[in-house]
Amino acid sequence: MRRSAEMQGARTSAVPLLLLSCCVCAAAGYPFRTPLDLDVTPRITVLSSGLQGCRRFQSSAVNYSTMLLEADSERLYVGARGAAYALNASDISASSALSIEWEASPDQKRQCLLKGKDNKTECFNHIRFLQRFNSTHFYMCGTHAFRPLCAYIEEERFVMSSQPEEGRDKCPYGPTTGYTALIIDQQMYTATQYEFRSFPDIRRNSPSPTLKTEDAPTRWLNEADFVGSALVRDSLGSSTGDDDKIYFFFTEKSQEQTTTYSHSRVARVARVCKGDRGGRLTLQKRWTSFLKARLTCSLHEYDFHFNMLRSVFLMPGRTPQDTLFYGIFGLEWKNVKASAVCRFSLSDIQEAFQGPYMENQDSGSKWKEYTGKIPEPRPGTCITDALRARGINVSTSLPDDVLDFVRRHPLMSQQVQPSDRRPLLFRRTTDYTHMAVQMIQGLDGQKYHVLYMGTDEGWLHKAVEVEGQLHIIEELQIFEEPQPVNNLLISAKQMSVYVGSPSGVVQLPLSNCRRYASCYDCIFARDPHCAWNGAQCVDVMTHVDRSALIQDIQHGRKGCENTQEDIVVRSRAVRVGDDVLLQCELSSNLATPLWTQDGSELQGYGLNSGFRTGTDGLLIIEARQDQSGLYTCYAVENSIKVAIITYNITIRMDLPPPPPVEPTEDFYTLPTPTEHPSSERPLPPPPAPVLPHSELLSTRNMEAMYLSLITILGGLCVVLTVVLVYVGFCLRVGHRGKYSLRAAAAAYPNSKRHNKNRKQHRNSSQMELKTISSHCNGNGVCNGVSKQRNGGIQDGGFLQIVPGEAYPSPNKEPPPPAPPLPPTPQLPSPECDFPNGLSATLPSVLRRMNGNSYVLLRQSDSENTSSSCYSFAEELNRILEKRKHTQLLPRPDESSV
Ligand SMILES: *[C@@H]1O[C@H](CO)[C@@H](O)[C@H](O)[C@H]1NC(C)=O
Ligand SMILES: *[C@@H]1O[C@H](CO)[C@@H](O)[C@H](O)[C@H]1NC(C)=O
Ligand SMILES: *[C@@H]1O[C@H](CO)[C@@H](O)[C@H](O)[C@H]1NC(C)=O
Ligand SMILES: *[C@@H]1O[C@H](CO)[C@@H](O)[C@H](O)[C@H]1NC(C)=O
Ligand SMILES: *[C@@H]1O[C@H](CO)[C@@H](O)[C@H](O)[C@H]1NC(C)=O
Ligand SMILES: *[C@@H]1O[C@H](CO)[C@@H](O)[C@H](O)[C@H]1NC(C)=O
Repeated sequence: MRRSAEMQGARTSAVPLLLLSCCVCAAAGYPFRTPLDLDVTPRITVLSSGLQGCRRFQSSAVNYSTMLLEADSERLYVGARGAAYALNASDISASSALSIEWEASPDQKRQCLLKGKDNKTECFNHIRFLQRFNSTHFYMCGTHAFRPLCAYIEEERFVMSSQPEEGRDKCPYGPTTGYTALIIDQQMYTATQYEFRSFPDIRRNSPSPTLKTEDAPTRWLNEADFVGSALVRDSLGSSTGDDDKIYFFFTEKSQEQTTTYSHSRVARVARVCKGDRGGRLTLQKRWTSFLKARLTCSLHEYDFHFNMLRSVFLMPGRTPQDTLFYGIFGLEWKNVKASAVCRFSLSDIQEAFQGPYMENQDSGSKWKEYTGKIPEPRPGTCITDALRARGINVSTSLPDDVLDFVRRHPLMSQQVQPSDRRPLLFRRTTDYTHMAVQMIQGLDGQKYHVLYMGTDEGWLHKAVEVEGQLHIIEELQIFEEPQPVNNLLISAKQMSVYVGSPSGVVQLPLSNCRRYASCYDCIFARDPHCAWNGAQCVDVMTHVDRSALIQDIQHGRKGCENTQEDIVVRSRAVRVGDDVLLQCELSSNLATPLWTQDGSELQGYGLNSGFRTGTDGLLIIEARQDQSGLYTCYAVENSIKVAIITYNITIRMDLPPPPPVEPTEDFYTLPTPTEHPSSERPLPPPPAPVLPHSELLSTRNMEAMYLSLITILGGLCVVLTVVLVYVGFCLRVGHRGKYSLRAAAAAYPNSKRHNKNRKQHRNSSQMELKTISSHCNGNGVCNGVSKQRNGGIQDGGFLQIVPGEAYPSPNKEPPPPAPPLPPTPQLPSPECDFPNGLSATLPSVLRRMNGNSYVLLRQSDSENTSSSCYSFAEELNRILEKRKHTQLLPRPDESSV
């Protein structure tokens, strides 16, 4: 019977194995790193229940999308739907908030409905703009139920200082229309798609003359969706008398056709000169300095082009010339979640604007590089000293041929490449929506850029850039209800990051170093805010004397060699033949577990060795007496082994059977074999592991059957590889944006650690596992409590299985930091809490039931998509679930205690 079961296991394991081997083929055959390899996993995960120092502002209003915070400001200004607020920036939840109620009038709402607009979203007054106008006043614009209005706000008292005025030329009509605007020297620059005009436009609304973009004969903007704008004060210290420039960032319909790829939409940067006054005859009331260029953010090796620009952030440099722009890019396919972060230098953008122009010949759709004569002065440049010397001190004096050239050649031929030639970050399954960047000096004297990025599901990722790569320090769940991050601001002064969302505003500290419990944890984090002071992980900013602090942002490795840490030692006695799980939760998603027995590394972990490892522990299968010993779990991160916990396991013959169990409605147990015939042991080595764990596979001898299978299918692999790489981004499994690259996921288990599908899995089971893997789910885990290294472990490093009733809503609540051990009065020796390391409530679930628990364990893989992340807790849960329906029998006869 066992034999046949093994054969079945072998068959079911062939599929993932095949896929995995394909993946190996791909890795070997491909000259570059795979995109999956680039995918960055956040080092730690913190659920909303574990957030610390978090402050929230909520009111009756929704859609907090506009935020304003000035460098020395004590107040955070927020625009929502029908209201604006002035919050205390040091504590936004303080009750001192001032507000301006500004709803659309009932009459205007009626008219909005008559226009056929959505009364749930559009027929409201969404505040889209709120910025400083002069030293005493702000300016604010709202969509006002499809009839935009703007108003001045007196800063001191936070009230409207006058009746609202017409906002048609300054504000979009809808709440979601792409929009960016700036007030510069009391002139308002706006870029959006205004209603009653089919074309998007970049405008300067005041003073006269108002300037716009041109539509004929060449349309300068094509269905542009604006995401940001920025002023660069080039005039400061310019030796050529240069003008200030305003840059606009957007995604628009592609005009140019290139041979290598064709995309319907492309990311762009456009710029105008602040001193532009338009032309006199040609380009009257139009920009004479408008130029645009394409921004690229691509993984060229794979032909992945991130065309959709979602957010930009200007990072000022020492001089205007050193300005950097960070951009979040997405893919054009709406159903695929993926993000890339690219960084552009201003000088690269300027270089593109200095290069050749594109030309639209015979007014068709074909754009080609213009190779003819370029008139003088160079079209699209600002007025400089050189022009002034020629008597051209204002744009209206520019010659007609130059302006005519500008009119027909808005697009540059050269594309702006990211300054590192490639994305700083690539991430599947995440759509970033907004970002903000802070520069921090590390203890090594280097300046580091720290990025805060919000996702469409209400998470915040904090990342540090080191040599062109982003390391994601942490991911924080800031909203329990998934909702997009609408806006994001950083205040160095308040040491806070502010996040606007549909439901409210959240203020979080820029760092939370105390989260890191040990020296290595602190160093591995590579957080420029944090350093180890010999006793704890502290915020560098709060330390004046930094000489004794330890930090290694570059590599996350050095500094802790001399620190001594006590590790927890737990002793357990276990009965021979029991299956025992030694729990070891790793707080870092980047760490891999390593186990030693009496000091020597456990090799193979195969079934034949009687051990198996998962992301949450080590399983001793059918414990033998010779397996007694000291087991130590290490977390291996950045090639450093850090001991987490040690178990002193004594395996004895003479322990009594576990106590009987209280029956509950959903209690099931299994016939417990009272003895284990020694003839069944040692177990025959299984033909192959089913674990989709690359490490496990690589360290194991493949059966000849598999080898030949792989060889035969090798050719198929090559084909599959190409297909995989191509369709990898197109296919999604499940609603969480997983890609169907199952094999790839198996090879890179980290990438799927936030597989929310597991939730359902767990939900469906009536058995509830108290200790769940921190890596396989986005809900149970990372509640900050269980992430504390000692929290989860101190009380029982063993798996405990209790009836589901005990935790009615396990997904909402974090697992308790210290699940109390049930009293076990029947046990003879008090120092051995449990006879087998399992909870007394269900003592025998892991034992060999009817001789087939073994097989069931190995079948875990063949079932479904969750195989890639291998967790005993999950696996056991599945087994229990399965047995409940198939083999388990209630045992009413044992109901008496
Ligand atoms: C405004 O908030 C509501 C609920 O919070 C949400 O359903 C809606 O999509 C939001 N609208 C916009 C334009 O963000
Ligand atoms: C903001 O809050 C801080 C701390 O709660 C307080 O000291 C300060 O006075 C408040 N500022 C204003 C303007 O209310
Ligand atoms: C929106 O309009 C529908 C139908 O016209 C109506 O049933 C609904 O109550 C309205 N909702 C709001 C919030 O006004
Ligand atoms: C700022 O602008 C407002 C609105 O135009 C005006 O009433 C106010 O006097 C201005 N303040 C200063 C200091 O110029
Ligand atoms: C342009 O420059 C000329 C000579 O420098 C000067 O006379 C004229 O007033 C300037 N015009 C403007 C509009 O500044
Ligand atoms: C492990 O436990 C056994 C029996 O409980 C004990 O004799 C032994 O000293 C322990 N070893 C260590 C290193 O604690």
